[in-house]
Amino acid sequence: MSAPPRATYWIDGKATSAEAAHAPVLAHGLHYGTAVFEGIRAYDTPRGIAIFRLGDHLLRFFASAAHYGLEPGYSLDRLRAAIVETVRASGLRDAYIRPLAYFGDETIALTPRSHCSTHVAIAVFGFPPLMEGTAGARATISPVQKFSSRALPATVKASGHYTNSVLALQDAVARGFDEAILLNERGEVSEGSGENIFIVRDAALRTNDASADILYGITRDSILQIAGAEGIPATVGPIALDDLWQADEAFFTGTAAEVIPILSIDARPLPQRRPITTALREAYARIVHAGDERYDHWLTFVAPPAP
Ligand SMILES: Cc1ncc(COP(=O)(O)O)c(C=O)c1O
Repeated sequence: MSAPPRATYWIDGKATSAEAAHAPVLAHGLHYGTAVFEGIRAYDTPRGIAIFRLGDHLLRFFASAAHYGLEPGYSLDRLRAAIVETVRASGLRDAYIRPLAYFGDETIALTPRSHCSTHVAIAVFGFPPLMEGTAGARATISPVQKFSSRALPATVKASGHYTNSVLALQDAVARGFDEAILLNERGEVSEGSGENIFIVRDAALRTNDASADILYGITRDSILQIAGAEGIPATVGPIALDDLWQADEAFFTGTAAEVIPILSIDARPLPQRRPITTALREAYARIVHAGDERYDHWLTFVAPPAP
C-alpha cells in the first residue's frame, strides 16, 4: 500500500482536514504499538455505495480495544455513523476505511490505561484490492515465525502485532515473492501477513482457527458461510505444512486482498485448475457488489447509485 495521497478524516469526534490530521509525536500508541485498527471496504454497487460487514468490523474493533484497555469513548453506533459520514464526505465510490484507536501522549510509562487519553481516528481513501489484475499470489514459507498467542493474542487486531507481518512481508518481497505464509511455533501453517489461508483437498475446504495463532478474518468467516450455503464441505482445524504441499488448491482471504488464489509456494507451483477457489472468489465478488440479495444483511448502503 503506498501512502494515501489524499484521505478524508474524522478525528476525535469531528471531520478534520488532511492538513490538520496529525498524531502527537509522543503518543503511547506510536511508541509501543498500543493502538487497534480495522480495514474495511466500501464498494460501488448498482444499488448504491455499500460498506461490507461494517457492524462485524466494529465489533472486532471494540473487542481489540477492550483487550488493551483502550476506551474509544464513542458507542459502536456513533462510530458506525461517523464511518458512514466520512465515506460520504470522501466522495469516493470504492473506498478503504481505516478506523484507529490509540493511547495519547500523557505518559510514556508502559501502563497507559489509567494515565492516557484514547484518540479515535477514521481515514477513508482509495485503495484497490491487493494483487488486483494478477492471476494470484506467488507465496513463500516465511522464515519469520508467527507470534504465539501466549505472547500476543493473535485474534486482537493491534498495531504493535503487525511488526511481525511487516518483517515477514518485507522478507518475502525482497526475495521476489508476493506474500509470506507464516508458520507458528509448532510449525503449523498460521496465515499470510495480512490474510487468512484456505486449502482445498478432494473438493473440500479447510482453514485453521485461533489454535494456529490467526486473526479471525471477516473475509474468512464470509467464505465459510458462503461455502456452507453453496454445499461446499468445509472443516476447521490445524493445517500442517504437508497439507499445504498436498493441496489441490489454496487461497488467501482478507479485506485488502479479497479472495486471492495461491499460484505457487516457493519453487512449487500449485495445480492450475482451481474450480472451488474460482467459484468462491466469484461468489464473494458478487456479494460485495450487492449482486446477491441473500447477503444484503452484510451490506450497509450509504449513498444512492451513481447517476
Ligand atoms: C494478520 C491478518 N490475518 C487475517 C486478516 C484478514 O482479516 P479480514 O478478512 O477481516 O480483513 C488480516 C487483515 O485484516 C490480517 O491482517
